[in-house]
Amino acid sequence: MKIIEVADYKEMSRVSAQIILEKIKSQEHVTLGLATGGTPLGTYKELVKDHEENGTRYDHVHTYNLDEYVGLASSDPESYHAYMCEHLFHPVHIPLDQTNIPNGAAEELLQECMRYDTLIENIGGVDLQLLGIGQNGHIGFNEPGTPFSSKTHIVDLTPSTLEANAEYFADRCKQPTRALTMGISTILQSKEILLLASGEKKQEALFHLLRGEVTEAVPASALKMHDRVTIIADSQALKLVN
Ligand code: F6R
Repeated sequence: MKIIEVADYKEMSRVSAQIILEKIKSQEHVTLGLATGGTPLGTYKELVKDHEENGTRYDHVHTYNLDEYVGLASSDPESYHAYMCEHLFHPVHIPLDQTNIPNGAAEELLQECMRYDTLIENIGGVDLQLLGIGQNGHIGFNEPGTPFSSKTHIVDLTPSTLEANAEYFADRCKQPTRALTMGISTILQSKEILLLASGEKKQEALFHLLRGEVTEAVPASALKMHDRVTIIADSQALKLVN
C-alpha cells in the first residue's frame, strides 16, 4: 500500500484529482469506479475546474458507482444518481449512457445486483476505483462482518452509517435504511484503488486499516490483499497511525 500524507482536505482533493486526470489523459478508454459522500466532493470540484479551464474530455470515460440507496429512483434529489449528476456527470459532460449506478428502485433487487456485478465482471474490473472510508471501516456500503467474497448485494445499513449520512436527508424519516453496494470482491477486481480519508472522524478507521490485521470486522482491511492501493490521507486522519 502506498500512503500519501497531505496537509488537509484541499490538498487531498487536488492530489486525487491529479491521479484521476493522469489516468483519463493517458488511456484511450478508461473505466472509473466512483464514490459518493462528503470525501470525494473536493476531488469532483477539482475535476470540474480542470474541465472548465483545460477542456479535458470525458468521451472515452465509463463510470461505475459503488452504491445506491434502496427505494430511491434516479430522479430523486437525494439519490446518489442525483448527487453524481450534480457534482460530476453534468459539469464535465460525461455521456450519461456511459455512467452506471446500481438501480435502487429496481423491482427485483437481487436481479439488479447480479446485473450490476456482471457489468463489472465483463469489463474485468474498473481501471481505477475511488473509495472513501466509513468511520466503522466500511468501503462501499460493506459494513463490518461482510464476507470478503461478497459481490454486489443488498445491505442493511448500520446505525452508525445511518447517523453519519443523516445530514444528507432533509427529512430523516425518509432516509433509506438499505442500499445496494458493490461487494468487497467486486471492489478488489479493480486494477487500481485510490482511498481518500480526511479529518479526525476517520482516525480510528485508518488506524485499524493500517495497523490492524486483515479481518472481515474491518471491511477496508481487505485492501491489504490488493497490490495496487494508494491511500491519500491528511494529517488529522493519520494522527493515530503516526
Ligand atoms: C459512498 C460510499 C461510502 C463512503 C463512506 C464515507 O459511495 O460508498 O463508503 O465513502 O461512507 O463517507 P463520507 O465521505 O461522507 O465520510
